Amino acid sequence: MHTSVVPVDAAAPAAESIARAADVLRAGGLVAFPTETVYGLGALALDAAAVGRIFAAKGRPANNPIIVHVADAAAARRVVADWPDVAERLAARFWPGPLTLVLARGADVPDAVTAGGPTVAVRVPAHHVALALLRAVGAPVAAPSANRSSELSPTRADHVLRGLDGRIDLVLDAGPTVGGIESTVLDATATPPRLLRPGLIGPAALEAVVGPLTRGSRAAAGPFPSPGMLARHYAPRTPLECIENGRERVAALLNDGARVGWLTFSSAPVPSPPGLVALEMPTEPTAYAARLYDALHLLDRSGVDRIVVDMPPDGEAWLAVRDRLRRAAALESKPPTIS
Ligand code: TXA
Ligand code: MG
Repeated sequence: MHTSVVPVDAAAPAAESIARAADVLRAGGLVAFPTETVYGLGALALDAAAVGRIFAAKGRPANNPIIVHVADAAAARRVVADWPDVAERLAARFWPGPLTLVLARGADVPDAVTAGGPTVAVRVPAHHVALALLRAVGAPVAAPSANRSSELSPTRADHVLRGLDGRIDLVLDAGPTVGGIESTVLDATATPPRLLRPGLIGPAALEAVVGPLTRGSRAAAGPFPSPGMLARHYAPRTPLECIENGRERVAALLNDGARVGWLTFSSAPVPSPPGLVALEMPTEPTAYAARLYDALHLLDRSGVDRIVVDMPPDGEAWLAVRDRLRRAAALESKPPTIS
């Protein structure tokens, strides 16, 4: 299959480009599109065959459910069976935005989207291109991140092509996404709501609206765990290790003759010693998140043997970034068990 790349203005997408992508979706095809977090790989959510093509293109395990993207809260209410007060309050405060709510599944939502589970995840993305596309299609769009399963999420169209060129119909290229890491996923069917995946909206902001949350743990997530909580996920192809301060480790690896990529908070050595690709990372968590996947994609492509990451400090502000780094470093991927 040929993958068309259609450039669009992130702030004011041309109607013809959006219409072309919407036509592909309406015909059951696959369109990668930007959101405020990462690029998503969309298909008509209520069309099981179209959703099946997402799984095939990504090599995604069938037991990993997909987030349904809608243009507004009214459209979200049409794909769920129940719209509790917490959903109302969270949607009013955070949508459009990087918050995904897990709710009781509506009758029209196919098993392919929910992995056969009783819930559906839904969000309203805060991106002009995504919203224009959703409005043009006029139907909910299921979209996981537009990468091969378990690999790094894409924050640029060329990251999408790296994994999916020739496997999807079209990419809307609006340049880099601003958020850089995936949405916060909150199970709003639980009382209190449970944080399944930390993201750009932190627990304190959520708790200010709905009171104390339960923090997710794989063991506690019930019979349908969120596979985004798998140990290894969001991982570059190059082995990665996180370490408080990587300077000595990097020196030792270079000494052994390895080529090393280093995400560091220190000033990168100038000139760079042979074999080292050092990238200086922002010390502010939001800026770090925006840069993270792009930096990892870059190191992955630079031919280094190993990636060393200076671990950011503990504390809530860094929760989502540390979560992604830990999973990028995890050695094995265990498929989720669903009873
Ligand atoms: O920012 C994002 O969320 C991006 C953009 C494209 O919207 N999407 C994204 O999708 O990251 P994906 O499929 O890569 O990650 C979705 C996460 C996975 O961990 C999945 O297991 C979880 O959400 N999830 C989806 N439906 C769920 C459900 N019904 N119950 C629990 N977890 C669910
Ligand atoms: Mg993903």
